[in-house]
Order: sequence, then structure tokens, then C-alpha cells
Amino acid sequence: MQILPSLNMFLGLSKLLFLSTIAAHSSASSSSFDPLQYVDPLIGTSNGGHVFAGASLPFSMAKAGPDSDYDNAGGFSTDSGSIMGFSHMHDSGTGGSPSLGLFPIFPHPNCTNDDVTQCAYSSPNRNTGYAGDSLTAKPGYFGLTLFNGVQVEITVTNHTALYRFTFDPNVQYNSPVILVDLGDLPQSRASGTAVVDPTSGQLLVSGTFGPSFGSGSYASYACIDFAGAGIRNTGTFFGDEVALQPDNTTQAVGGYASAPAAGAWTQFAGPVRNELLVRVGLSFISNENACSNGQSEIPNFDFDATYEAAKEAWTEKLNVISVKPGGASDDLQTSFWSGLYRSMLSPQDYTGQNPLWQSDEPYYDSYYCIWDSFRSVHPLLTLIDPYSQSRMVRSLVDIYRNEGYLPDCRMSLCKGFTQGGSNADIVITDAYIKGIPDVDWDTAYEAIVKDAEVEPDNWSVEGRGNLDSWHNLGYVPSHDDDPNTSGFMTGSISRTVEYAYNDFCIATMANKTGNSADYSKYLGRAQNWKNIFNNDTTSSINGVDTGFVGFFQPKYNNGSWGTQDPIFCSPLLDFTSCYLFEENYETYEGSVWLYTFFVPQDMGDLITTLGGKGSFTSRLSYLHDSGLLYIGDEQAFLPVYQFHYAGRPSLSTKQAHTYIPSQFNNSNSGIPGNDDSGAMGSFESLSMMGIWPVAGQDVYLISPPFFEEVSITNALTGKVATIRNLNFDSSYTNIYIQNITRDGQPWTNNWISHDFFLNGGTLEITLGDSESSWGTNTEDLPPSLTPYTF
Ligand SMILES: *[C@@H]1O[C@H](CO)[C@@H](O)[C@H](O)[C@H]1NC(C)=O
Ligand SMILES: *[C@@H]1O[C@H](CO)[C@@H](O)[C@H](O)[C@H]1NC(C)=O
Ligand SMILES: *[C@@H]1O[C@H](CO)[C@@H](O)[C@H](O)[C@H]1NC(C)=O
Ligand SMILES: *[C@@H]1O[C@H](CO)[C@@H](O)[C@H](O)[C@H]1NC(C)=O
Ligand SMILES: *[C@@H]1O[C@H](CO)[C@@H](O)[C@H](O)[C@H]1NC(C)=O
Ligand SMILES: *[C@@H]1O[C@H](CO)[C@@H](O)[C@H](O)[C@H]1NC(C)=O
Ligand SMILES: *[C@@H]1O[C@H](CO)[C@@H](O)[C@H](O)[C@H]1NC(C)=O
Ligand SMILES: *[C@@H]1O[C@H](CO)[C@@H](O)[C@H](O)[C@H]1NC(C)=O
Ligand SMILES: *[C@@H]1O[C@H](CO)[C@@H](O)[C@H](O)[C@H]1NC(C)=O
Ligand SMILES: *[C@@H]1O[C@H](CO)[C@@H](O)[C@H](O)[C@H]1NC(C)=O
Repeated sequence: MQILPSLNMFLGLSKLLFLSTIAAHSSASSSSFDPLQYVDPLIGTSNGGHVFAGASLPFSMAKAGPDSDYDNAGGFSTDSGSIMGFSHMHDSGTGGSPSLGLFPIFPHPNCTNDDVTQCAYSSPNRNTGYAGDSLTAKPGYFGLTLFNGVQVEITVTNHTALYRFTFDPNVQYNSPVILVDLGDLPQSRASGTAVVDPTSGQLLVSGTFGPSFGSGSYASYACIDFAGAGIRNTGTFFGDEVALQPDNTTQAVGGYASAPAAGAWTQFAGPVRNELLVRVGLSFISNENACSNGQSEIPNFDFDATYEAAKEAWTEKLNVISVKPGGASDDLQTSFWSGLYRSMLSPQDYTGQNPLWQSDEPYYDSYYCIWDSFRSVHPLLTLIDPYSQSRMVRSLVDIYRNEGYLPDCRMSLCKGFTQGGSNADIVITDAYIKGIPDVDWDTAYEAIVKDAEVEPDNWSVEGRGNLDSWHNLGYVPSHDDDPNTSGFMTGSISRTVEYAYNDFCIATMANKTGNSADYSKYLGRAQNWKNIFNNDTTSSINGVDTGFVGFFQPKYNNGSWGTQDPIFCSPLLDFTSCYLFEENYETYEGSVWLYTFFVPQDMGDLITTLGGKGSFTSRLSYLHDSGLLYIGDEQAFLPVYQFHYAGRPSLSTKQAHTYIPSQFNNSNSGIPGNDDSGAMGSFESLSMMGIWPVAGQDVYLISPPFFEEVSITNALTGKVATIRNLNFDSSYTNIYIQNITRDGQPWTNNWISHDFFLNGGTLEITLGDSESSWGTNTEDLPPSLTPYTF
């Protein structure tokens, strides 16, 4: 359902309008609070959300679930009624191109005439529908019943998937076949091998595949063991050609590349209790390692105990937050808890599974992508799971140590595509200023400085390009001639504003570590956004002047201006023209209109530049109200809250309520764009908690929570921070802050810093039904490089 073929290449979008059904998910409220009752993993499985809905642990490598026959970027989509198989590793929320989904298995309860050669082995021949009312998705569990009568239940540990297949006892020729296919979702296989053991029925598979949004290749392995039935027959298949085990020796297929379906199978004598357990151990190291992962993590094939442990792991993650709903609907609570849940699917903990280098540091993968996740996923994790955030930052630093650069995107042990600046700089600085422990900050600092100073061979997959121009001219020129190295010469405006903010983050870290030379150098470059601002540029929509003057504009390296209509690549003009690898655009996945607001380091100067706070406020309102802004892509998040900088926090609040729940809700199509590893979910949940983090700064913009009260326990200090609304009304008439007290004292800043969460305390917000003077004075505004002039 993509508009352009190349759209498949993209993250950050898939915004295509599917007809969608809105399923109602209701959950009973109970007195002893269980956050899992409010998690619905199916949110975002329709309308291009591409959310992974299957069974997962927090940040686990094993993510097992069904794979649909189309729109299967997250594996399962409620827009498709047909299942190709069940695979064991996925990425969540990718922008169009599917990821992973290796080695799907498929259960046949019987074969025609009881003849094993007459079962369907390849996809699409084997694809089967399922009973809609059998769908059950919960944290750590996924279930459905296939039209062939097999009830499928799935749970996982960190590196192992466990399937429980229950067969209809009345089925004719009850003699199930479980096959494993050597394919993957992106159909990237370059080689593969399948071996079946005739005695145990064990299936060993391996293959070489390509990443879904990056370059290179990776090898992967699985080890499939069974419990619950005797072996009747074993064999291999190629396409739909079946080879039976000729004798009792091990049989293998392999040595071929992508082409048709191929794999191996085991047929069982009628299962003893009509139930067969299938354990899939996973590895990026070897088949032996895959088998030992399965054996050590699920030694007894105990499905219920495995699911119970998964529930406990999720409960523990979510229990650091508590909510007093104050009458807020179950639907909103479901949106909230599900958004938090989705923010903890990735990055994935592949520690011990990285064949690329030896290290004692943690290794996380599926940073998919940092361009999407730096804004709210990582700040959310810093808030609710600082120890995981610490391991992720350590892993980023270790990737730098071993590969020479920090990634901007990474999946399946490969380098992913860079979409703008080097935004790991922001993740590192954000973690540093918020006191994330156990990181080698000297090396982290060295890594972000290298991003700013040394061009990599290919800046499409790491670092930054056009650095000589950046250093000497102070901007990324349109169609720059960079003789040093290479990369895609696109997005000169979006890269300029992102590089400026990346450098501001370096300056911040330099300042805190007492490096004043670096501080002044990078602070200078943090102002480079001014070099592409043209004070005379106007903007019309359908020939009608919007009245707003002054926008970023493409600039050549000889200093003369290029052109790009400020509304180009907004929903109002050629929306889909600014994706990666398109040659003729200067903004990435968004318009000049949108990018003109991306100066989070110096809002004082930006507001002055755009004509003062009145003019800034009407321009920002126009962005939201005119149809120019698409809220389903991550750059749209900060502009929801930027009214704070003009002393109008109530307009940010109003805007947040405009998008939630109309664009972010608990239906299967309840996110406006692909989730990008929980980015949409984290926007939604942070918004509902009433704290918008300005990533890279020690700043949370305050807006009232959507609940009467929210508390967060900090794992580092054990302290509890509570944000409480007084006069809360769940119909959201009283949404405007009248005043705030922090621990009993008036709090007039319209922002707060991380020390509140580290030290604990209470922020008490008095609400009213109209805008007040709270947070509107110049001294109430968030930090800015240049002082506000109003
Ligand atoms: C799974 O991995 C996480 C770290 O990502 C770890 O904290 C947890 O203990 C692991 N679970 C088990 C059962 O080993
Ligand atoms: C398997 O058994 C069921 C129930 O008896 C029957 O309806 C179905 O046709 C059989 N399938 C095949 C492929 O023989
Ligand atoms: C740079 O990497 C991109 C993405 O993998 C690739 O398409 C391009 O060919 C590479 N350029 C060079 C010069 O290797
Ligand atoms: C294969 O194994 C079965 C069961 O162990 C045995 O009955 C049969 O003789 C063996 N066949 C061959 C060819 O070794
Ligand atoms: C580009 O190449 C020139 C000549 O080798 C070198 O002096 C310069 O440092 C390089 N620039 C960057 C940013 O790597
Ligand atoms: C850090 O920033 C402050 C405020 O701009 C400045 O006064 C101070 O000199 C800086 N310190 C260093 C070491 O750069
Ligand atoms: C600057 O470069 C652009 C693009 O190559 C060219 O179109 C323009 O004429 C040049 N302007 C000047 C003043 O040389
Ligand atoms: C840019 O234009 C605005 C009015 O549109 C004006 O207030 C401002 O001073 C101008 N800035 C410069 C640098 O000319
Ligand atoms: C839920 O969100 C989706 C996606 O943004 C939107 O299309 C739909 O209209 C929303 N549903 C409701 C009931 O607001
Ligand atoms: C906060 O605002 C409410 C409603 O306007 C008012 O009753 C209360 O006195 C105010 N409290 C403070 C500390 O200003």
C-alpha cells in the first residue's frame, strides 16, 4: 500500500491512509492495580503503524509472532487476514520495509490423504487465515487459531521463542507437520542451510541476510526442538518439492541463495495430548549457541511458567509509574500504558550475541533509528529505566570504539542509514546531563567530537558529510561539492539545523567538563542555522500569501540562494518527495515550514528572528492549524510544545489535547505514523504525563497530565516524583494551568529539570478553564542561548 516504491526505504513515514476499523479495547478497572491489563499490543497494527504485536520481553532479542501476507513490517498486521508463518525476531514500527522475520515455522495438522508430500510447504501456498475472534495479544503472549484448526500460542524469553500448538483431536489423519522456512521478511537471504535430525526431529537452520534499512549483511542461526509427540517422519523441501528422509541419517538443504522457499520439516505421530511445544533458540553466533540458548532459557518447555516470567518482567518495568486516573477513560489509560510498553521493545539487548568484536560491554542493536528515537524514546527511558538507558549508551560508545563512529541507525548488526545529523550526540549529552551512571564519558565525548570533525568514508551510514563546508562556510550547501568522501547529497537545510543542534550538545558537554575552548567553538557552530535563514522569503499556499516572511532556504557554496517552496514536502505539496535518496530536496521528510522551528538551543533568537513572540505564536499556530503539519513523523513532536518559549504554555496544552486522542488512541490504527521503535508511543505517554523533554537539555516543558495524578519512582535514587492536578476534570475543560507549587512553594517556571525526578517531590498544578498568567513571563521561560527580548 505504498504510494511510491521507494517509500519502502523509509523510516518516519508510512502515513498512508488505509481504511481502518477501530476496534474497541476495554479493560476492567480493578483495585489492585495491574498495568498489564491496560497494555494492548495490537495498537498500531493497522494503518501503517507497523508495530510488532507478538510476544516480547523488555528489549529482548526474541520477538515472536505471526507474519501476515502483506504490510508485514512489524510481522503481524490486522489489515491482513492471512498468515505466512510464525517467526521469532522482529523490529517494531519500521517505516515500510520489513525487518528480520527469519526462519518462520508453520504448523500443518495433517496432510491430504495422510501423505506428507501433499502438504503445502512454500509461501504463499501454505498461507492460512485465522479466526478474528481468536486474536489475543498481551505483554509476553500472542495467540490465534488458524483456519486449519491449529491453536497457536506464543511466549518468549530473551533469546528463545516458545510456541504451543494445540490440535483439534477430531482432525482427519492427525499427524502434524512443522516446517521451517529459510526465508526472512525482506526476502534478503543470500545463503541458507537447514538440517533435520531424524531421531529427535530437531531442526537446525542458518543463513545470511541483509538489514532492512542499512548496508552489509549478517548471519543468523536457530535451533528448533520439540516436546509432546513422537517423531513419524522427517525431511526437507525446496519450493513445494518434498524430500523424505531416505534413511536415518541427517539430511540437509543448503548452498543456494535467495530464490524459492526451502527448509526442513518434522512430522509427528498424533500428539499425546493434542499439544506440541516448539522451542526456537536463537543466535547470531552459531547453531550450537542457538541450541544452548533454548536449552538454558526454557529447559522444560514450560509454556505457562515462561509466560508468567514474561508478565513479571513487564510488570516490573511498568510499575515504576503509577497513575490516579481521576475518571480518565479506560481508553486513555490503554493508550498511555501501551505507549510506554512499546517504548521498551527496542533497542534490543544482543549482549553476548555480537560476532563482530569481543567486549565486556553491553551490546544493543535495533537503534531503529536514533533520528526517530532521540527526541522522546531515550529521554523516556532515562526517566523510567535509567539502568537500561545506561547499558544502551555504553553500547553506543562501544560501537564507536570498535567501528570508529557512533551509529545514527543500526539494525541486525549492520550500519543503518543516516537521515540527518549525528543524533547519537544528543542521546549521549542528554544521558550525561541527567546523571546516567556507569558510562565512559571521556570516550563518549571523543565520539561526538569525531562526528563533528572527521568525515567518514561514507556519511550515508555514519558521522556527518560536508564537514569542510560546515566548518568554513557555516552551513551545509545545497548540492555541495565534497571531494573528501561521499554520501547522499540531500537535506541540506535539515542537516544544517540538525548539525547546529548536535554541536550545541557537544558544547553543553564541553561546558560541563570544563573544556572552555571546545565550549566556545561548538557554541559558535550551534548558531550556524542563521546562515541559511533568508529574511525575505515568503510563503504562499495555492497562490494565497500566508503573510509569514522569513524562512530557511537552500544556499549554494558560492553563497547564493537556491529555491525550495517552504510548503514543499508538507501534506499540502508533494508530501512524499523528501525521502532518503531522493536527489532534489533540501529538507528530510518535512517542509521548510516545519524545519524553520528547529532551533531548540536558541529559541530566544529564533523568536526575535521570526518577528517577536506574537508573530512567532501565530506562525506556530498556523503550522498546526493549516494542514502543514503531519503529526505522524517525529520532527512534529517538539512544535506541539514550542508555544512555551513564547510564554504561551496553555497553547501547547491545547495542542496536545488536539492530537490526543484524535491521532493517538487505543484503536488498532491508533497511531498516525509508523511507530519507529516506540517513538509515537513515547510522544503519547510523555504528553499524558505532562512533561515534554527537550532532548539534549535538562529541560522538561510542563503541561498538565491527562490524569489526576502521575508518579514516577526513580530507579537510581528510589525517590518518587508526583505530578498532581487540582480541579482535574476528565472531560478536559479545565486543562489550563493557573499556578503550580513544587513541594509547597510557588513554581513559576514553565519547565522543570531532571533533579525533580532524581530527588523526588510533588508538583501540584491548579487547573482552570482558561489561560492564566502562569508561566508567561520572560523569566518563566526555558533556557535559551540568546536572551529573550520580550
Ligand atoms: C533478560 O535480559 C535483561 C537485560 O536486557 C536482563 O535484565 C534479564 O535478567 C534477562 N532475563 C533473564 C531471565 O535472564
Ligand atoms: C485434515 O483434517 C480435517 C478434519 O478431519 C479435514 O477437514 C481436512 O480436510 C484434513 N486436511 C487435509 C489436508 O487432509
Ligand atoms: C554509501 O553508502 C550507501 C548506503 O549503503 C551506498 O548506497 C553508497 O553506494 C555508498 N557510497 C559509497 C561511495 O560507497
Ligand atoms: C531407522 O530407525 C527406525 C527406528 O529407530 C528403525 O526401525 C529403522 O530400522 C531404521 N532404518 C534404517 C534404514 O536404519
Ligand atoms: C578533507 O580533505 C582535506 C584534504 O585531504 C583535509 O585537509 C580535510 O581535513 C578533510 N576534511 C574533513 C572534514 O575530513
Ligand atoms: C560554561 O557556560 C557558562 C555560561 O555560558 C560560562 O559562563 C562558563 O564560562 C562556561 N564554562 C566553560 C568551562 O566553558
Ligand atoms: C552559485 O552556484 C549556483 C549553483 O551552481 C549557480 O546556479 C549560481 O549561478 C551561482 N551564483 C553565482 C553568483 O556564481
Ligand atoms: C527580518 O524581518 C522582520 C520582519 O519581517 C524584522 O522584524 C527583522 O528585523 C528582520 N531581520 C533582519 C535581520 O533584517
Ligand atoms: C485514532 O487515531 C487514528 C490515527 O491517527 C485516527 O485515524 C482515528 O481517527 C483516531 N480515532 C479516534 C476515535 O479518534
Ligand atoms: C492558584 O490558583 C487558584 C485558582 O486561581 C487560587 O485559588 C490559588 O490561591 C492560587 N494559589 C497560589 C499559590 O497562587
